[in-house]
Amino acid sequence: MSDWSVESWKSRPALHQPAYDDARAVETAVARLRSFPPLVTSWEIERLKGELAEAQQGRRFILQGGDCAESLADCTPDVITNKLKILLQMSLVLVQGARKPITRIGRFAGQYAKPRSSATETRTGPDGRSLTLPSYFGDLINSIEFTPEARRPNPHLMVRCYQHAALTLNFIRSLIDAGFADLHHPEYWELAFCDNAALHEEYHSMVRRLSDSVRFMETIAGQAIDDLTRVEFFTSHEGLHLLYESAGTRTVPRRQGHYNLTAHLPWIGDRCRALDGAHVEFFRGVRNPIGVKLGTSATPDDVLALIDRLNPANEPGRLVLIHRMGLASVQRCLPPLLEAVNRTDRRVLWVCDPMHGNTKAVSRDVGGAASRDVLGAGTGTSDAIRREDAAARKTRDFADILGELDASFDLHAKAGTYLGGVHFELTGDHVTECTGGARGLSEADLDANYRTMCDPRLNYEQSLEMSFLIARRLASA
Ligand code: PEP
Ligand code: CO
Repeated sequence: MSDWSVESWKSRPALHQPAYDDARAVETAVARLRSFPPLVTSWEIERLKGELAEAQQGRRFILQGGDCAESLADCTPDVITNKLKILLQMSLVLVQGARKPITRIGRFAGQYAKPRSSATETRTGPDGRSLTLPSYFGDLINSIEFTPEARRPNPHLMVRCYQHAALTLNFIRSLIDAGFADLHHPEYWELAFCDNAALHEEYHSMVRRLSDSVRFMETIAGQAIDDLTRVEFFTSHEGLHLLYESAGTRTVPRRQGHYNLTAHLPWIGDRCRALDGAHVEFFRGVRNPIGVKLGTSATPDDVLALIDRLNPANEPGRLVLIHRMGLASVQRCLPPLLEAVNRTDRRVLWVCDPMHGNTKAVSRDVGGAASRDVLGAGTGTSDAIRREDAAARKTRDFADILGELDASFDLHAKAGTYLGGVHFELTGDHVTECTGGARGLSEADLDANYRTMCDPRLNYEQSLEMSFLIARRLASA
């Protein structure tokens, strides 16, 4: 790839990049990032690529999930363990339905940058004066408080986020090494606050069946089965901030090419997938598996061109296409893409993100009674709707999320393609950000614990329930 370098993206239009005002401080931060040890290794990246290749062949299923925007403040043992617990529990449920190995990929240890539709935000203070400041672009770039100081893009945050990603990964790796993810001890993964009795009972009876099977297999084998004691996690984030991504991209001994060593699976967001843009230019040259989000504006020609640009050698496990059309558009927008790719021999892994096309705004002042659909294209982070905004707040409904997934499974079956994974914004905590689910959370309930830094996440119970519904669907396939 003689026309590519870690810097070649700089000659292309780069959307959603921060406007720093101190070039020297940027240089210092980037040099610091380059000097740090990597967060992940090329061995792990290649192992994930192998697993994604199996998923492409229908032999594996992918569970990808975590925060919309990770925050530095949430780098705490409880928050991290709860995220691991919910992903472990969901994967246990899914494995029973899919009867295939599950690969767990967290949206964590680096999901710190957010694209915004507007570069600035204006608010009116109590004195009636309006103030315009840069939008909040995620903790990698600035801070959420609405003050000039907090909103100023600060290059040193790249260093802090990298260090927090390392702290997060270090804790995850130690937990896993210590046996936290051991299938002999699913009781370690219990979360304190599931008080939905039916869901709890369904989960426990499944765990009992599983423990019996594990004991049975080990009795037959006459020894402990090693693979059951260690479950792996991979990391992923939107590869948005190209200075950060390129600073973490290196060559490694005894392997060809460059690896982005900040995450196993970086993905290109729906807003940054322009064929001639800086993001596609950068990621075409790294050896990691790459995800690309596809929203309603993606045409069959766009998708074929992206595949050719990002995976010209048709390498197995290299490309993950994550469609996020929304319940209202999936029937119309997805089949042409599936058919176009299916007519070729190009290898891709299809994954459904049923979150980002199903975002809507609810009014807070009327208890959410007046909700309206927003963001026809299903953007992730509309600046029209912000957490702190008194008039509107983002939510998603459980039934819409499940509906898009169900429709996607049907559409793939009809097209003869394999839907090999699901991508969620979720948390292991007891938040109230998405409506619906077994508990019937209403718009009026959202006030109780609405905490997301960006998009609304499924809470612990909603996530577990979702995994049971997907598992049923997979079992009947
Ligand atoms: C996201 O995953 O948080 C996101 C912004 O997604 P998309 O690029 O699909 O809008
Ligand atoms: Co999001």
